Amino acid sequence: MKTYAIVGTGHRAQMYLGALLGAHAADGRLVGLCDSNPGRLAHAMAQAPGVPGFAADDFDAMLAQTRPDRVIVTVPDYLHADYIVRALRAGCDVITEKPLTTDADACARILAAKRESGRQVIVGFNYRYSPVRTLLKQVLMSGIIGHVHNATFEWQLDTHHGADYFRRWHRNRENSGGLWVHKATHHFDLLNWWLATVPKRVTALGKRVFYRPEIGDALGFTDRADRCTGCPAFARCGFRLDMAGSAALSALYADTETYDGYLRDKCVFSPDIDIEDSMSALIEYANGVTANYTLTAYNPCEGYRVVFDGTRGRVELTNIERQAVQPDGRLVRPAAPETNRIVVQPHFARPYVLKLPEAGGLHGGGDAVMLRRLFAAASNDQYGHVADERAGVWSAMVGIAANASLVRGAGVEVAELAGDAAVPDYAPAPFGPAEIWQNFDPARYPFLEGAEVL
Ligand SMILES: NC(=O)c1ccc[n+]([C@@H]2O[C@H](COP(=O)([O-])OP(=O)(O)OC[C@H]3O[C@@H](n4cnc5c(N)ncnc54)[C@H](O)[C@@H]3O)[C@@H](O)[C@H]2O)c1
Repeated sequence: MKTYAIVGTGHRAQMYLGALLGAHAADGRLVGLCDSNPGRLAHAMAQAPGVPGFAADDFDAMLAQTRPDRVIVTVPDYLHADYIVRALRAGCDVITEKPLTTDADACARILAAKRESGRQVIVGFNYRYSPVRTLLKQVLMSGIIGHVHNATFEWQLDTHHGADYFRRWHRNRENSGGLWVHKATHHFDLLNWWLATVPKRVTALGKRVFYRPEIGDALGFTDRADRCTGCPAFARCGFRLDMAGSAALSALYADTETYDGYLRDKCVFSPDIDIEDSMSALIEYANGVTANYTLTAYNPCEGYRVVFDGTRGRVELTNIERQAVQPDGRLVRPAAPETNRIVVQPHFARPYVLKLPEAGGLHGGGDAVMLRRLFAAASNDQYGHVADERAGVWSAMVGIAANASLVRGAGVEVAELAGDAAVPDYAPAPFGPAEIWQNFDPARYPFLEGAEVL
């Protein structure tokens, strides 16, 4: 059984903590906890009786004393590299949250530490593990749509979820790389993995159109304060975060803010924000694919659409994660269930609407599958779900190049930034035979079984 230490005991750490103390208690043992905030550290320690806690300055001492096999890194993005490198140099393997890191220099430092230490780095790209996205990978790997040449990927964050990136550390590029790195790293990793290739050139456009002071004014919140707690506009604002109304938010953030001044509920219409909420990129890949990508963070609904066009047909996945947000900012109750639809249409054949696998829980069902893979004995990883530092670099690089493209006002060659990063093992290339269909034979494709033919 492997032993684990966690650095960063905030929101995301709760998932790993819960897994190691609950469903995966028999698969791994927690031996240490570390955080810069004594209140959040105490909150985590109370959940894990007997597990010692360490201040941020004592991280190296924690590794020396508790000797974990693996360190789980769940601090804010800009701090990942430092902790990953220190853990590797201390002889530990690392499971890090996404993004791997936020800039090219930090990528290079992680790659060097990995090379020198020979230890393992796993990036928690939970989105890959979702059963529906895995089915899409299976479709692409089967060659049913032939050589893919074009992709379109649109992601919409609603005003409940999207707004949350404008309240705290994410809202400043130096902490998160902006949504290009912090959020889109999931999407760029999915594209790299689905397409089994790495990016070559990125041309980006981006702006902040919604989370701006003038929108707050236009919505009538002219009396707003710098944060939701105590804000005169609180009762009228659909963007409020009600920390006092949530035991979880109070315990993690409200009750602990006196230690470090970390305010979880800063106003989303603040002039201090310096990241985009509306972004588009044209991405050219090493294998010739061109992708059009967009992300907006102020939508009335949440979901995404991804389309791959190939020489033998096309496949389209449409997801609606949430249909609406209420005027008070809460989600519509009862919540409409998340919906997914995958349509595969070979040339000269009718469209197939695939029968989808069951997917329960957060992030399209990806979290639970990922935790099983990370903590329990790994079985055959036929779709290449487990992502290493190379996948972390190549996904972060799209966002890092997009940030550079915004500054330069021109396309950016990713190789300029990626240095000597090797190409990851993305599972077999999703390219089928080059020839166009003559006679399409559905029997060759097991995932068409049970599909509805339109
Ligand atoms: N994969 C996903 O779907 C997903 C979802 C949420 C968050 N995340 C990732 O998880 C990470 C953490 O996000 P979060 O929402 O939990 O943030 P958070 O702010 O809730 O937690 C971060 C924790 O790190 C601590 N910390 C800050 N500076 C530190 C330092 N120098 N040393 C030690 N601890 C320090 C903070 O006190 C806090 O407890 C981020 O990288 C984020 O991108 C991933």
